Amino acid sequence: MTRKPVLHNPNKELREKSREVEVEEILHSDFQLLIDDMMETMKAENGIGLAAPQIGIHKRLIIVEMPTGPKAYINPRIVKTSARLVESEEGCLSVPNVWGLVKRHKRVTVIANTRDGAEVKITASGLISVIFQHEIDHLDGILFIDKAYKLSKTAQTNNPI
Ligand code: CO
Repeated sequence: MTRKPVLHNPNKELREKSREVEVEEILHSDFQLLIDDMMETMKAENGIGLAAPQIGIHKRLIIVEMPTGPKAYINPRIVKTSARLVESEEGCLSVPNVWGLVKRHKRVTVIANTRDGAEVKITASGLISVIFQHEIDHLDGILFIDKAYKLSKTAQTNNPI
């Protein structure tokens, strides 16, 4: 496993839309290595979420720190959201030393492929819901600073994602 450099804003690579990944590609050893490298990178950076475009790879792959450990989700798409929004403080490995409040759906249901190609459906709330929404935004070239208010250089309640 290799730690990869994380791109920092401003960088046009962070603004590109990432492409879907076929199951055949997911199962390929190169893609499995990419997943392991991203997990290594996220851990080394003390992150709790990471999206492939943050290391310059424009494929729809995210890593989320789940209660059971880091998990890879490929082609994640939000299929259901709670009407209720919650405000929480976010930071991002691609926007160092900036924190801000973002309103997100309290709960989301996501369908994605796992690293073995299977399709899973996850309903998440709380921090995990925030991580999914933040990382899926990365796949569409959206950064949390596009949505955040009360930006700060000091406040920090969560790890960057
Ligand atoms: Co981020």
